Formats: sequence, structure tokens, C-alpha cells
Amino acid sequence: MYTIDRHGPSNTAGAIDLRSDTLTRPTPAMRRAMAEAEVGDDVYREDPTVNALEERVAELFGHEAALFVPSGTMGNQIGLRLVCEPGQEVLGDADAHILTYEMGAAAALFGLSSRTVVTGGRLSADQLIAQVRPKGDWHLTATAAVAVENTHNRGGGLVQPLDELEKLFSWSRGADVAVHLDGARIWNAHVASGVPLATYGRLADTASVCLSKGLGAPIGSVLVAGAARIATGRLWRKRLGGGMRQAGVLAAAMQYALDHHVERLAEDHEHARLLAERLGVDPATVETNMVVVDDVEAPLVAEAAKAQGVLVGQVSARRIRLVTHLDVDRDGVERAAKVLGELIAR
Ligand SMILES: Cc1ncc(COP(=O)(O)O)c(C=O)c1O
Repeated sequence: MYTIDRHGPSNTAGAIDLRSDTLTRPTPAMRRAMAEAEVGDDVYREDPTVNALEERVAELFGHEAALFVPSGTMGNQIGLRLVCEPGQEVLGDADAHILTYEMGAAAALFGLSSRTVVTGGRLSADQLIAQVRPKGDWHLTATAAVAVENTHNRGGGLVQPLDELEKLFSWSRGADVAVHLDGARIWNAHVASGVPLATYGRLADTASVCLSKGLGAPIGSVLVAGAARIATGRLWRKRLGGGMRQAGVLAAAMQYALDHHVERLAEDHEHARLLAERLGVDPATVETNMVVVDDVEAPLVAEAAKAQGVLVGQVSARRIRLVTHLDVDRDGVERAAKVLGELIAR
């Protein structure tokens, strides 16, 4: 019997922390940008830094409008609510963050039903399409939206194939089904695949993108969609308590992250490949900044690594996960590879 210490204790100062890319702390330059941000009341829509961020992100993804939200969870859930009515269902893969880690929010808050398809994280348009239940049937719960995650967290940072995204989206136009993108790590997908952000944006009706993961902002996500949907989304954000006042201090960190931290994700991806090579993991399974190591005594490895200043995520009894990010440099990666290599070989 063991407990999963997925997010572990907080006394981790000085450790090489590979548990998640959400653990990054704002850099000194980012903090300066935050301190100097011009601000106003964002509920009045008078925060110039938030307004500029929303315009910038909408444009990046080729959508009419955008909404700053405090978390990826809020972005996802408002996104779903904008394309589904209570009693309708969202279809997603069984490991989707939306359906695994968001505390049943779509059901608890909005009366949405959900159904899953087991894919292992790699999008298969045909698999999802085959499960869609049409609107207007007297018996069936109608599928109003399908949710896609890119990159896929529980899939180990997989990048969704562009042809599958294209196929799903073009099918959805004729089927009156919306596509929601959980793009918490869409930046990693963009850097790894070279696919423009606007292309990913074009293939979704609503998309939530996070700047608090690999991009290193302390807080903040953005929901993009059409203007009418975002106007309704603003209402839902207020209802959920996500209407914030001088939020420009956060938006300034997000702007800084967009200016300085997107292209550098390539370094995280390289670090992840390096870790994989050193630990005997097939590098072909590493598409972005996550390395999944199977067939290990996860609690033992995690505990012993921690004693040597390396923190890893435990996904299950036999699986650990390593996530590279802004706060882990090449030396840290080398040290982690050495510590973990010895432990895994034992
Ligand atoms: C794929 C994915 N979507 C959504 C989220 C939710 O983001 P937040 O923690 O900001 O609510 C996460 C968080 O790690 C995630 O990995």
C-alpha cells in the first residue's frame, strides 16, 4: 500500500523538480514586467494590459476574441459551456484532462454529460466520430462537442497529428458538433511540429491556452472563440468568480512569456529527449517536454530520487513522469539523468 505523492510536499527548495511544468516561478525579468504593468479594473474592461493580451492571443489563434481567465480549468469549462447546453454531452478521450482532472466540473457546474473513448492520448478522428450521437433524436443524449487535448498530458506530451485534427474539424462542420481544444500546452505542440498557432486555432470553435505551464507565467490562461461566444464567456467568468480587477499584473507576465518563452520550449524538448536516451526510454515516445518511464517501482524511485534532490511525478505504481521546463537547465538535466539512471538500473 502506498500513497501517490503526485504533487508532493512543498519543501523542495534547491531540488531539480521534474514533477510538472506548472512549477516554474516567474523570472526576475518577468517580475519586473509585472511590477511595471499599466493596470485598470478588468471587470470594467479598463485594464489596458489585459485588453492588449486578449487581442494578441485572439489574433495569434486567428479568432475574433479572447478572454483572460485565471486557470486552464476555467478556460476549458467555460469553453465547453459555450458550445454545449445542459443535458447535452461532450465526447473526449478517456485520459483527457477535462474529464480526468477537472473535478467533474462540466457535470457539477453546467449539467453536461460526458462520454469517453480510449485512445491512449493520440487523437483518432474516426474513433471519436464513430461515437458521436446526433442532436434531435428522441432517445439519445446529443453530443454537442468533442474535446481535443494538444499536447496530451496523460499521453506523455503527445502532439496531435494535424491530419486527424483537420479530419475531425471538417467532419464536425457538417455534423453540428463543436470542437473544443484544451491547448494548455499548444505552444509545445507548435514548437515541436512547426504547425502555426493560427492553424491549430482554425481547427477549433473554442480553445483554452495556458501561459502558466511551459511558458512560465505564474497564473493565467486565455480562452479564444468567436466574439459572441466570448461575450457570453465573460458572463460565465463573472458568475464563476473569475472576474478580476487589476489583473494586468498577471497579463504582463503572460505578455512577457509570449515575447520570451515560446521558442525556448525547443530546449525543454531537447532536454526531455536527452533524459529519455540516458534512461533507456525510446526517444520516439518523447515528442515534447515529457518523459514517461515505465516498469519501475515508482514510489521507491521517487523517494530515493527525492533524497538526492530530484523530484519526479508518480503516475501509477509502475510509472513515473519527468517534465522538463524553464527552471531546469542542462546541468540539472544531467544531474537528474545520473541520479535516476542509477536508481532505475538497480
Ligand atoms: C492538459 C491540461 N489542461 C488543463 C489544465 C488545467 O490548468 P490549470 O491547472 O491552470 O487549471 C492542465 C493542468 O496541468 C493540463 O495539463
